[in-house]
Amino acid sequence: MKALVLSGGKGTRLRPLTHTMAKQLVPVGNRPILSYVMGHLQSAGIKEVGVVIAPETGDEVKGYLQDGSNWNLSITYVLQEKPKGLAHAVKTAAEFLGESPFVMYLGDNLLGTGIAEAVQRFEKGGMDGLVFLKKVPDPRAFGVAVLDDKGQLVRLVEKPKEPPSDLALVGVYLFSAKIHEAIAKIKPSWRGELEITDAIQTMMDMGCKVEGEVLQGWWLDTGKKDDILQANAVVLDEYAARNIEGAVDEGSTIEGRVDLGAGASVIRSVIRGPVMIGSNARIVDSFIGPFTSIGDDTIIQDSVIQHSVILEGAQVRGVKRVEDSLIGRNTRVVRGENHSDALRLMIGDHCQVEV
Ligand code: TTP
Repeated sequence: MKALVLSGGKGTRLRPLTHTMAKQLVPVGNRPILSYVMGHLQSAGIKEVGVVIAPETGDEVKGYLQDGSNWNLSITYVLQEKPKGLAHAVKTAAEFLGESPFVMYLGDNLLGTGIAEAVQRFEKGGMDGLVFLKKVPDPRAFGVAVLDDKGQLVRLVEKPKEPPSDLALVGVYLFSAKIHEAIAKIKPSWRGELEITDAIQTMMDMGCKVEGEVLQGWWLDTGKKDDILQANAVVLDEYAARNIEGAVDEGSTIEGRVDLGAGASVIRSVIRGPVMIGSNARIVDSFIGPFTSIGDDTIIQDSVIQHSVILEGAQVRGVKRVEDSLIGRNTRVVRGENHSDALRLMIGDHCQVEV
């Protein structure tokens, strides 16, 4: 069993961050999303992983994952010149995949549970496809699956106005080599992409056995800002542990599950977990509230921050309340000296500022 991790794409919904970084490397709980994906592949006993990369962000992804040895994986990179769809990514990786069955894992998806059991079920069940599904309250924005009472997939509908079930397609799939045959038969959709849902439907039409694996744990698709904040909150809620490596002065209080990295300092401040603070961060005269991740080498001074993700090298000074915010690398959010109501902004393309 091989794996194919899709780490190309445009990431338009996460601009401006994705002008300068791969969305799969945006940190959640101070760890890039891809590190969770690689951890799940490793736990499922997979060794050979193909990583699909885009020309714009491929070098950064390579720089982070390297040869995969941090996860005991062997990585082969597959360059997809243009993001022409999930099925197109599989087609581009055909040589790497060969005749092997594989797990296809979208590099911007986070699952609460691993994939090891599903891999075993797929291997024992003689299937050509096993798609991960999750019950969602409003499935209209997703690919929706209909299962029969044996768990066999009967039908797939993309973003239906009237959903035939509440089971949304999650970004993890298991396929036999039959998927290549199906992809060869499909045409680009109205948006010009080779859709994996069309390929799966074609497999079913070919008489292949395709089943659904309904996830019991959480699933998060990190395509937009609020998704990242929600993913960060869920990950902190689940994984944050109290671990104070940095220095805390006598005037500060650390409450609950706070992870303070090496070389970080907390001065005259209150940190209320779950919170993660990276190495060499400086928190001065501030309050850091629950569900906040603050990256390495940041400075937070005279500010109140909660339910936010602050990336490495950023500075926030004199801002009395930052909430539900995602702040990019090496940015500065600073209240001016004269304390007037005027805003002085230097903001890049596609940013979003709510005042
Ligand atoms: P999407 O989130 O569907 O697409 P995107 O990354 O282009 O984002 P946006 O809609 O904001 O522009 O992609 C899901 C995952 O699959 C993501 O990790 C990117 C990856 N991907 C590829 O590797 N190749 C592709 O052709 C596409 C469409 C996505």
